[in-house]
Amino acid sequence: MASATSLFDPIRIGPLEVAGRLFKTATAETRASEDGYVGDELVDWYETLARGGVPLIITGNLYVAPEGKSTYRMCAADRDDRIPGLARIAAACHRHGAKLVAQLSHCGRQLILGHTGVEEAVSASSVREPVMGAKPRALRVEELPGVVDAFASAAVRCQRAGFDGVQIHAAHGYLLSQFLTPHTNRRTDAYGGSFENRLRLVREVVEETRRRVGPGFALLLKCNGDDLLPLRHGLHVEDNVRIATALVSAGIDAVEVSVGHYESGFPMTAGRFDGFYKELGTRGAGIHMDALRRFSLVRFDRALGALSNRLWPAREGFNLGYARHFKRVLSVPVISVGGFRTRAAMESALAAGDCDAIACGRGFIADPFLFDHLRTGTPGPQCDSCNLCLARSGTGPVDCWNPVVREEKEKVLAERLAAREGSS
Ligand SMILES: Cc1cc2nc3c(=O)[nH]c(=O)nc-3n(C[C@H](O)[C@H](O)[C@H](O)COP(=O)(O)O)c2cc1C
Ligand code: SF4
Repeated sequence: MASATSLFDPIRIGPLEVAGRLFKTATAETRASEDGYVGDELVDWYETLARGGVPLIITGNLYVAPEGKSTYRMCAADRDDRIPGLARIAAACHRHGAKLVAQLSHCGRQLILGHTGVEEAVSASSVREPVMGAKPRALRVEELPGVVDAFASAAVRCQRAGFDGVQIHAAHGYLLSQFLTPHTNRRTDAYGGSFENRLRLVREVVEETRRRVGPGFALLLKCNGDDLLPLRHGLHVEDNVRIATALVSAGIDAVEVSVGHYESGFPMTAGRFDGFYKELGTRGAGIHMDALRRFSLVRFDRALGALSNRLWPAREGFNLGYARHFKRVLSVPVISVGGFRTRAAMESALAAGDCDAIACGRGFIADPFLFDHLRTGTPGPQCDSCNLCLARSGTGPVDCWNPVVREEKEKVLAERLAAREGSS
């Protein structure tokens, strides 16, 4: 695929013609109802982003089965009665010309037991997740067709709701990633051991989803560039390129390249971590953790923050080195996510041919009008990678909680609202 030089060049993703090359990546919105239904708060969140001109929005992760729910107020695609609510999001985005892709996920072992109503975690094997603490039950082989069906059925629901595509979440140590990674997959049946066996479940998910949605619906994949599991048997970039290549043959139209499991720490949101762990332990998902974990987050906040600042410093395009490997081999668009904030860095990645499109998460949480602002050269709120949005995402609706950036964001939102009211 020839390299683009502008964020505003169109791009084809399978059946989809997308009007530009900067996408909103998945960030769990935690704005659905407690039991996973879409309401006004979630529709407004997406409509604001779509108004900002971003050509393609990937939703925060939607759970495909009740036991795959990882967080508070997470949105669901696990039953047909979710369709009318999901259709409201699709209509709101399409009103402003944005294409909409639902990220489909099952958390497997990465959850705080009891917090979301899930009392038993499942995974490829019974390997404890050290950050959240869950020791999962290994899924029985006869349960795996149910996992495949859950993903494929959720995709069909999104299609019926008017979405333009789905993204299968096989990154970040969630269930599908747990099957791919040798550290979390110790199975000795047809779904564990060799490369082909560890790939089998994800391949079946992709094949069945493609079979059920047909060729006219975009199918994206989010996968890791590296698992970053030191001293563990994790996957590295050459393994992940091989996985993505096989999944493109199974029906994937574009691959977004990220990094890490929960167990890796926070390489996937590299940035600043000053006060982050205390916030996590007192106002974020940490409040649902056991007393020892909660205490450690607060007590060792400074040391953990200083270490994290060294290990995972803010850097534009921090996963671009991995994307480059995928780009050399894949025949479909490669999307790079991680740390992008400026048009110069995004366009230099495109011009170098390291990726075909850029995805941003925190940049859009700070500034829903980021795409418009970059297009017109207008200064907008600048995410400073403080990670407070992430620290609080387990207990409150996702938003920018940096006081300085937030003030700027509210000003921009108020100006946009006034301009809309003035023109109507
Ligand atoms: C608050 C928050 C929620 C996130 N939720 C998801 C999610 O639902 N699915 C996912 O694949 N990644 C999720 N991520 C990771 C982002 O998609 C992205 O990979 C990461 O934030 C790096 O990109 P950025 O520097 O543009 O934010 C989340 C990140 C943040 C900060
Ligand atoms: S809280 Fe705001 S400034 Fe901080 S990382 Fe999140 S979006 Fe960026």
